[in-house]
Amino acid sequence: MVDTLMRTFYIETFGCQMNVHDSEKVIGTLVEKGYSRVEEPADAELILYNTCSIRDKAEQKVFSRLQQFKKEAGKGKTFGVLGCVAQQEGEKIFERAPHVSLVCGSASYTKLPQLLVQLEAGGKRVTGLSLDTDETFETPYTRRDSPHRAYITIIEGCDKSCAYCVVPFTRGPERSRTAAGILAEARELADMGYTEIQLLGQNVNSYRDPSDASQDFAALLRAIGRVPGLKRVRFTTSHPRDFVKPIIDAIDENPVLCNHVHLPVQAGSDKVLAAMRRLYTRDDYMRRIEWMKRSPRRIAITTDIIVGFPGETEEDFQQTLSLIGGVEYDSMFSFKYSPRPNTAAVGMADSLDELEKGRRLSIVQERQRAIQIRRNAELIGATEEVMVEGFNQGTGQWIGRTGQNRTLNFTSPGTHRPGDYLDVLVTRSGPNSLAGEAVN
Ligand code: 5AD
Ligand code: SF4
Repeated sequence: MVDTLMRTFYIETFGCQMNVHDSEKVIGTLVEKGYSRVEEPADAELILYNTCSIRDKAEQKVFSRLQQFKKEAGKGKTFGVLGCVAQQEGEKIFERAPHVSLVCGSASYTKLPQLLVQLEAGGKRVTGLSLDTDETFETPYTRRDSPHRAYITIIEGCDKSCAYCVVPFTRGPERSRTAAGILAEARELADMGYTEIQLLGQNVNSYRDPSDASQDFAALLRAIGRVPGLKRVRFTTSHPRDFVKPIIDAIDENPVLCNHVHLPVQAGSDKVLAAMRRLYTRDDYMRRIEWMKRSPRRIAITTDIIVGFPGETEEDFQQTLSLIGGVEYDSMFSFKYSPRPNTAAVGMADSLDELEKGRRLSIVQERQRAIQIRRNAELIGATEEVMVEGFNQGTGQWIGRTGQNRTLNFTSPGTHRPGDYLDVLVTRSGPNSLAGEAVN
């Protein structure tokens, strides 16, 4: 164990599941080096903030939160910024928030202990900003939050260049991890009692084993689905361009592979899709939806939508609405377009004002809400297997999650533990969740 002066740390995480999992790796790495984690900034000597820069709002929050930490935490603390804003802004962070002394992007987390040693040795400001490494894949000390459900990173970065997106700049080029490494981690987790695994990547389905190119994402899914002890395997996020039929075939053949696909479409008009550089047309996308709709399993389909991309006319927007109506998504995340530094779209003309973007966003959300009310109601009378997540004292209901990733709250005469699986009869539905009763 390295002798460290800073012994306690506090970490706060913002952003996607990749960031949540990165924080698990950071926590594991620091704990291994003798640090202990505390729940309050005031009790910590080291304060870490893992950040997101996907939209401007997320980024603005970073600097206000950093000021707040300074107040909450009191004097004499060390502050570090991790994640996508760290990578994107680099040393500029020191200027905007002079109390910060460490800035470290997601590809450099294995170097964190060394960076901290440099600070303790008298360094004023240290950075870890290289992007060309994949060494964070095999971090041996991940501290997972849940004893039942685990994330595994299978691919880092992104080689696409969607005109609105910061990810290629904040997470670098695509690097796939070896299938052998992934399977070893999955087996180890299953042996420890984990039953659900979520495979992570910005472009999870662009996966290709660097040591054996014949192992693509569908082959990897099949292999993980056979790991003894696993009951659920999920994956996110898929890019439509690389979403090939063998992925659906694998899901059809093995119930361990969850019947849920998150397939961000972003927009319904070919003109906007081309301007976004999404590399598919509406027809290409709808073909993939058809594969899923024809599956003998009922596959839940979810998506991301951006409204108000530069040049999006009312007619383009109507095409997004008609696509949403045609697919009938099970759930959706929708956003107003936010111009981001370094991206191709930042300089594009014909940007829409915030009011109009807001109007379009509300229409999308209302439309989707009606679809969810209808689709969830169709499940009344069905029996769904859930994984128990907890108990809600307020409502007296257990909280469960279905294979399709819906929340299903239920009553039960029995006592359950988080991580248990059981069947629940769906008796009621709302726009965002289902309710029911445990069967037997
Ligand atoms: N503005 C708005 N939404 C964005 N997303 C990514 N970049 C932007 C941006 N600049 C959305 C996309 C993506 C999701 C994670 O965030 O819909 O799929
Ligand atoms: Fe946010 Fe994207 Fe970074 Fe995830 S990868 S934290 S969504 S900017």
